[in-house]
Amino acid sequence: MLITSHAQARTLLGDAGYVPSPVRQDGGEGTLAWLRAQVSRFSTGRTHAERRDLLVERLATLDPAELRTAARAMTAERDGDWRGVPTAVLGAALGVRDTSAVAAAATGYLSGEESPPADAAVAELLGLTDLPAITLLLQGHAATEALIETALAHASADDDVEALLHETLRQDPPLKATRRLDTRTGEEVTIDLVAVNRDPEAFAEPDRFDLARGRTPHLTFGAGLRPCPAPEHALALAAGVLEALLSRSPRESAQTEVDPRPR
Ligand code: HEM
Repeated sequence: MLITSHAQARTLLGDAGYVPSPVRQDGGEGTLAWLRAQVSRFSTGRTHAERRDLLVERLATLDPAELRTAARAMTAERDGDWRGVPTAVLGAALGVRDTSAVAAAATGYLSGEESPPADAAVAELLGLTDLPAITLLLQGHAATEALIETALAHASADDDVEALLHETLRQDPPLKATRRLDTRTGEEVTIDLVAVNRDPEAFAEPDRFDLARGRTPHLTFGAGLRPCPAPEHALALAAGVLEALLSRSPRESAQTEVDPRPR
């Protein structure tokens, strides 16, 4: 079943009868499959609650304002070469100095696609830090980079960075869908995040990219029982990078391919 209604999606995400599809539990220790069997994201019930609590505790030790400043500084230091910055900044805040293995491990984290490079990257990360830090780095990596990339495509040099991010999250979500299994019927349900964020019942003129909307009740960070626990961290990392990119001189901004066209 495909869900495109905002109201239906909210109801479903708050219903404990819908769970993430189970992942294999028999992966060899230290592999990507093993990691997926250990994390909050793919577990349910009490196990999910306990694992999620550990992540929330860890996130509470990180200050979004500091992440933002650090992301801005690192982007400027790298002369606008921002790829890897959100993950490096998050890693440093979590005490992980080397985050070079995160991208390879993150590739199969959500999809479950196993590969020797992904397994090697997971093994490398396990040698550097603990499971909660790895979970946070893998969860955040691709979505935060995709948000920045999409926001840049919508940006003009004088845009308010937060307004730009909020509207980008609504209109062009970095994660296009999330899935659940109905434990009562065995049916797979896909929530189309693009469609629910443009549901005319929930948003006026939903196809218009409008910075004046500010924060909206979009479902890009999920909702209900297991929403993203780090929306403020994600926003801070993305805002820091964008501030550094958009405050550069017009000639430099053009080199970063910020699209100056009116929307
Ligand atoms: C723009 C960036 C991000 C987006 C759009 C995003 C979105 C989401 C969504 C939709 C979920 C829930 C999935 C579902 O209900 O099926 C989720 C879960 C999660 N996110 Fe994010 N996220 C982002 C960045 C981050 C960052 C930076 C972190 C870590 C600092 C993070 C940590 C997590 C964790 C740990 C979960 C699993 C929660 C659980 O198991 O209950 N996310 N995210």
